[in-house]
Amino acid sequence: MLLTPSKGENLPTAYGGAIVVGYAKVVKENVYMRCTHCGAVYDASPRRFFCEKCGGILEVVVEPPKQVVFRGRGVWRYHSLLPLNTSEPVTLNEGNTPLLEIKRIAENISFKGKLYAKYEGANPTGSFKDRGMTVAVTLAREIGVRHAIAASTGNTASSAAAYTARAGIKLTLVLPRGKVALGKLGQSILHGADIVEIEGSFDDALKAVIKASTISTSVYPLNSFNAWRLEGQKTIAFEIWEEIGVPDWVVVPVGNGGNIAAIWKGFKELREAGLIDSLPRMAGVQASGAAPLATAFERGLDKPEFVEKPETIATAIRIGKPINWAKAMKAVRESNGVFVKVTDEEILAAQHMLARLEGIGAEPAGAASIAGLKKLVEEGVIERGETVVVVVTGHALKDPDSMMRAPCRRKVASTVDEAVRMVVGGE
Ligand SMILES: Cc1ncc(COP(=O)(O)O)c(C=O)c1O
Ligand SMILES: [Zn+2]
Repeated sequence: MLLTPSKGENLPTAYGGAIVVGYAKVVKENVYMRCTHCGAVYDASPRRFFCEKCGGILEVVVEPPKQVVFRGRGVWRYHSLLPLNTSEPVTLNEGNTPLLEIKRIAENISFKGKLYAKYEGANPTGSFKDRGMTVAVTLAREIGVRHAIAASTGNTASSAAAYTARAGIKLTLVLPRGKVALGKLGQSILHGADIVEIEGSFDDALKAVIKASTISTSVYPLNSFNAWRLEGQKTIAFEIWEEIGVPDWVVVPVGNGGNIAAIWKGFKELREAGLIDSLPRMAGVQASGAAPLATAFERGLDKPEFVEKPETIATAIRIGKPINWAKAMKAVRESNGVFVKVTDEEILAAQHMLARLEGIGAEPAGAASIAGLKKLVEEGVIERGETVVVVVTGHALKDPDSMMRAPCRRKVASTVDEAVRMVVGGE
C-alpha cells in the first residue's frame, strides 16, 4: 500500500508502525520503505522491491532506535540498527572480518596516510554477500518462504546456496553460462542449489529473476534489488567505525551498486543515531569493460548508459545494467565521492600486489578496489596523508583460473637430488 509521496528525508515515525499483518513479528516497528528515485514511502513489506509510482528501486528505512546496543560479534552484533526482530537468525557467524593495515602496499604506492583492507573474503562463503544473506534468508524463513531464487555472477549464488541450505529452503539459481568462476559454481553445486544456466549475461539472468518474482509469489528473490538483503551489508560500515572511527575514504568495487550504497547507508545511520558527526567519501571502482557508472560520472550524467556486452576478467562485476545504479550514484554524489575505472591488467596487478606484498588472497573483483585506490592516489584525488579503507570483497579461492595466471617460477625435478639442488642452489 502506498502511504504518502514525499521528497523529504525526515518522515513521521507513525509511518514506521504500518506493517502488514503477519510480518509484524519479524519487521521492527521503526521501519518503512522509500523509493530511491521519487521519495514515495511505503509500509514495510518483505516482498516489496520496486516503487508502485515510478518503478524505482526501494530502500529500507530504519529510524534511529531509542537505544543503540551492540552485543556479540559479526552482523547480529548490530541488531539494534537492523530492521528485523529475531533471536534466532539464519547465521554462519558472518561479519567480524579483519581490518588489516596494509603498510607494504602503502609504501609501494608512496602513500603516507593510514591504509586498511577490510577483508570480506574472510566471510563463511568467502565474500561480503554473507552479511546480506543472513538477513534476507532469516526474513525469508520468518515469512514462510519455501523456494528462493537468485541470479548471480557467482558470489550471491554461493552465499544464497549456503544460507538457504541452513534454513531448509529450496534454492534455484540463474547463472550466466560459462561466466561464473569455478569456486563459486562449485559452492553452489555443493550446497545443493538447482541451477539454470542462461545463454546470456548476468543482466539477462537478473531479468529472469525479476520477472519470475513478479509473476509468482511462490518464489522469493535474494538479489540486491531486495533491499532487505542490503541491510546486512551496511554492517561493514559499523565494523570499520568501531575499529578505527570514520575514515576519509572507503573504496569499494562496484557491479550492481548495492554494496557501496549499503556501506554509505551504514555510515549515515551512525550519524543519525548520534554516534558520529563526520562521514567518509565513497569511491566506487568499476572494470573498464563494465563501467556504466564510472562512465556516467566522467561525463557528468545523471543516469548511466547501460553496457550491452560487459566484459572483464573480474567476473563478479561483469555487469552492464546495475540494478542499484540510482542508489550507488546517490552514495557517491552525497558523499562527495568518485567513480573510477580500472583495466583488467590493473586489476590483475592489484590482485598480485595484494597477495604478494600483504598475504591477502582476493579474487579479481575483490582486488579491483586496490587498483582503484592506486589510480586515485596517483591522480591526487585521494591525498597521500588521508585515512583510507579499501574493501576487498571476495576470496582468491573463488576463482582458481585467475590465480593460475599469476607469474610463478615453477620447475620440475625428476629426482630427489635434483630437487635438493634446485632448492639450495637457487637454480
Ligand atoms: C567479489 C565481488 N565484489 C564486488 C561485487 C559488486 O557488488 P555490488 O553488485 O553490490 O556492486 C560483487 C558482486 O557480485 C562481488 O561478488
Ligand atoms: Zn518512485
